[in-house]
Amino acid sequence: MSGKVPDPFTLVIFGASGDLTRRKLIPAVYGLFADGLLPDGFRLVGYARTEKNQDAFLEELREGVQASARADSWDPQTWHAFAKRIRYQHGGYDADGFRILAKSLEQTHGPGNLLFDLATPPVAFAPIAEGLHDTGLVHPETPDAPWSRIIVEKPFGHDLASARELNRTLRRTFSETRTFRIDHYLGKETVQNLLVLRFANAIFEPVWNQKYVDHVQITVSETIGVEGRGGYYDQTGALRDILQNHMMHLLCLVAMEPPIALDAHAIRDEKVKLLRALRPIPQKCFAENVVRAQYAAGAVGGERVPGYRDEAGVAPGSVTETYVALKTFVDNWRWAGVPFYLRTGKRLAARITDVAIHFKPVPQVLFGADADHPLKPNQLGIRIQPNEGISLQFQTKVPGPAMEVRPYQMDFGYASAFGREPPDAYERLLLDAALGDSTLFIRADEVEAAWEFVEPLLEACEHEKDKALPTYAAGSWGPAEADQLMEADGRKWELMKRPVR
Ligand SMILES: NC(=O)c1ccc[n+]([C@@H]2O[C@H](COP(=O)([O-])OP(=O)(O)OC[C@H]3O[C@@H](n4cnc5c(N)ncnc54)[C@H](OP(=O)(O)O)[C@@H]3O)[C@@H](O)[C@H]2O)c1
Repeated sequence: MSGKVPDPFTLVIFGASGDLTRRKLIPAVYGLFADGLLPDGFRLVGYARTEKNQDAFLEELREGVQASARADSWDPQTWHAFAKRIRYQHGGYDADGFRILAKSLEQTHGPGNLLFDLATPPVAFAPIAEGLHDTGLVHPETPDAPWSRIIVEKPFGHDLASARELNRTLRRTFSETRTFRIDHYLGKETVQNLLVLRFANAIFEPVWNQKYVDHVQITVSETIGVEGRGGYYDQTGALRDILQNHMMHLLCLVAMEPPIALDAHAIRDEKVKLLRALRPIPQKCFAENVVRAQYAAGAVGGERVPGYRDEAGVAPGSVTETYVALKTFVDNWRWAGVPFYLRTGKRLAARITDVAIHFKPVPQVLFGADADHPLKPNQLGIRIQPNEGISLQFQTKVPGPAMEVRPYQMDFGYASAFGREPPDAYERLLLDAALGDSTLFIRADEVEAAWEFVEPLLEACEHEKDKALPTYAAGSWGPAEADQLMEADGRKWELMKRPVR
């Protein structure tokens, strides 16, 4: 993080009685406070419809901080000082609710800078933005006026039309430079490190193209199921929940062209260009490029778990995918002909987010002339989580008189290299929003370009809504059909060995 401290501001969290506030937002704000990265004039208002007294609210937050904050940051005295800046206010999202909120903000904090965080379900995003605007809580954008900014949580839209509609509402109420659409993956150190790896080193960029790269694999696997939110997930599915956002951003940072500067415009311009270069997958090509599946009962971490259709809130005949794998191409000069394989799913064997660059094989004339045992091509693995780091696999000679060649994996690990775990993504993102830096947030055209790629996939799913999906056992690495997607191209899904910490 930059170490810069923002101007005094008040953070207003809507939906403050919820899970995101307790588990992620407050621990992150507390972490910033403990590190001295918040200004003296910082205040926090938790706003929600539930009636709750101040002490009960603070107690909930304290438990959340103790459970989630970085191990090195918990300190009762720091908490006490932090808690003094927090106030809970209950109210609705009608004109009266906003008027009372505006009045109390004016009385307690004066006409200062305001950062609003929409930690509510998405149905409330547009009404809250409009309510804030109509009540005069969006300050005019003049040089001497205090600022008002809005953070919008994921999911941003349910499809292209709803994302466009939400963008229109936001444009009417907050300008683009004041709108901070969060994808918390972009706040992860390892995701930002993709830019450093590619553009701060001379050795990777020259081989980062179709001449040397055979294919790219991106895996986002979860061990959790629907966690009591079956009703919500059944309307969402893996395509919307993970692929449209987290995976599209990873793909952009892996494959985009070098930006002309490290600023919000230049980086996001390149991301949008990349999204627009993705080859669409029309309905007639869906079956050969996309695999969707649902988890069946199985065992995860030694515990028996039910199948997706037996989860509470899931329709018995549901065809919502909990797993998706797809093959896509980036139609530009750098990547012509290089397949990008993406897979994500719930209830898989391990919780992993990895990018693997598989390089082309060397001519098999010198060391690996045996066609049955070809030399393993080089592989660069980027571990986004957990055990964050980078691994490079290359060939080495086994000591001895024979010319025996064997692959070896060289590892870099964040924790061992820097002596600490990378900070939580929300710390970085909340601080950046308070500083007005939108580099790590999603721009309106970016979110729409990602939906434009996903929209035909959703239409194809809709077309197939009467067909049962393949299944995979909970605790496995996904359906056989996803393996066949790779095998048809003579490849297989591969994860590099994770070094022991
Ligand atoms: N939880 C996570 O880890 C996570 C991760 C990434 C993104 N998100 C996103 O962050 C947002 C909040 O997540 P969450 O898990 O905290 O959600 P949540 O617990 O379901 O909801 C948060 C709060 O919103 C209020 N709320 C519920 N329905 C509402 C409605 N129709 N209108 C206005 N307020 C309503 C409720 O408070 P009151 O009834 O007291 O008003 C609730 O406590 C969601 O958009 C979610 O998709 C969450």
